[in-house]
Amino acid sequence: MPRAIAVHGGAGNIPESLRPEHNEGIRLAREAGRRVLLEGGSALDAVIAAVIVLEDLPAFNAGYGAVLNAEGYIELDAGLMDGSTLDIGAVAAVQGIRNPILLCRYVLTGPHILFAKEDAARLAAAAGIEQVDPRSLITPRRLEQWLAGQRSLRVDSGAPSSPLSAQGETHPPADTVGAVALDAAGNLAAATSTGGINGKAPGRIGDSPLPGGGFYADNLVGACSTTGWGESLARTLTARRAIEGLERGLTPAQAARAAIDLLGQRIAGGEGGLILLDRHGRFGAAFNSQRMTHAWWSEVDGEGVVA
Ligand code: GLY
Repeated sequence: MPRAIAVHGGAGNIPESLRPEHNEGIRLAREAGRRVLLEGGSALDAVIAAVIVLEDLPAFNAGYGAVLNAEGYIELDAGLMDGSTLDIGAVAAVQGIRNPILLCRYVLTGPHILFAKEDAARLAAAAGIEQVDPRSLITPRRLEQWLAGQRSLRVDSGAPSSPLSAQGETHPPADTVGAVALDAAGNLAAATSTGGINGKAPGRIGDSPLPGGGFYADNLVGACSTTGWGESLARTLTARRAIEGLERGLTPAQAARAAIDLLGQRIAGGEGGLILLDRHGRFGAAFNSQRMTHAWWSEVDGEGVVA
């Protein structure tokens, strides 16, 4: 089977000043995933390797560098799916974990699919993952972004004009990370990791740990990872919609576009993007946000970077 990997670094209003870091970051992530595949590794290991790179980079809203919630601390969501078994591992609103995708891998091997909050973090010891001081994941840029959100909330005396401003967001959500891969054995995998939305309510869980919303993978069809405003992606099951497009015979590019068009049409303000691989290693991407940083490499579709 042809091998392929695609990664994204988030959909949204990515500031001009961050574009070089995004560009570099998604190249590094794609290379990490490609290396795993070229060395004979699995699609699951490839998406995990790619997402770890992005969780570790401060430019992206995942792991180290994630956004802060309304009370000024980080809660992380992530999801992982193995298309060969349909096994899922996901964590939600977890604190003090630098690489939530590793926790997802641990959950994926057990009987349950999704753990939340302290109970998810407690699994770290069993998974052999280090728990860190949650404050060590806060970067100066995210602190400044959060403080700007607090200031704008104080001066905003009117009713919220959009679902995002209702949650104290000053910019569209951005920088969630994700990856999809196809290995030589024909196995597909998908992974997504995020800090969610800047200034979100404590305990708020977005689409990223929800199968069908933030990710989906099925060896018989394809693999998808999404990014954007989580509530809209979850309500339209954007990842699953993209997979359904492939099932209907659309190309990955067409299926990606159809799922994102539906997001915008059915949900007022529905905004996001996705990356998609089909079982033949063909790649598609679509977004209705200002930008979506992404990169791909495929033995049938070549390679590219959009940052
Ligand atoms: N898509 C990330 C989030 O809304 O949480």
